[in-house]
Amino acid sequence: PDHRPLFGKHVLVTAGPTHEPIDPVRYIANRSSGRQGFAIAAAAANAGARVTLVAGPVSLETPPGVERFDVESAEEMAAEVKRLLPADVAVMVAAVSDWRTKDFAEQKMKKRGSAPPALILTENPDILATVAGGTNRPGLLIGFAAETEDVVENAKIKRKRKGVDWIVANDVSGPVGTGVMGGNDNQVYIVTSEGVETLEEMPKQDVARALVERIAEALAGDAHE
Ligand code: C5P
Repeated sequence: PDHRPLFGKHVLVTAGPTHEPIDPVRYIANRSSGRQGFAIAAAAANAGARVTLVAGPVSLETPPGVERFDVESAEEMAAEVKRLLPADVAVMVAAVSDWRTKDFAEQKMKKRGSAPPALILTENPDILATVAGGTNRPGLLIGFAAETEDVVENAKIKRKRKGVDWIVANDVSGPVGTGVMGGNDNQVYIVTSEGVETLEEMPKQDVARALVERIAEALAGDAHE
């Protein structure tokens, strides 16, 4: 068997949360640890790919053989992804904040004994959808979907709406911090145009290996067409 089935391929991965600044000391964030995305980057590098990893703020070691670019906000992540394309495969695992504050306060916001400030939010760019519709669209574009209900149904809708090839969907309901978000294990569904594959619950490293295997199979299939 080929131990480096992704040799010669560029795989771009996004991982982690984004931080959306409110003022110099405060930000909006989410519970993404970056573990699943980092594991996918590691597995792709093990499979011989050239891997670029755009990482939001996380406390994780860079996997061996992976080229890492750190960003904070969704806008920074979008710019970095654009800069790193083209890629043969992109796996967008990052839990990008849907919103950012409309106006960044240059100075730390004060209590001043008056009413609490209202945070006015505005929508962030959808990096995945932008890449899907762009000129540099990777041949295999994979998104993730973190859902708390109707996981597979929502993933099918998301796959079509975003114009991506596969959606890897997981259920992020469950205990805070030790569940899927922040935890070590994951149970995913791989939703493609062909159907839905249900994987057992397993360590995120094993989910990553399984996904990379399927990526290699898909690229090999394309090459034979
Ligand atoms: O729409 P939703 O956030 O559920 O979509 C999740 C997928 O889209 C993930 O692959 C995530 O990395 C990507 N995404 C993105 N940019 C956003 C929002 C989500 O790339 N602003």
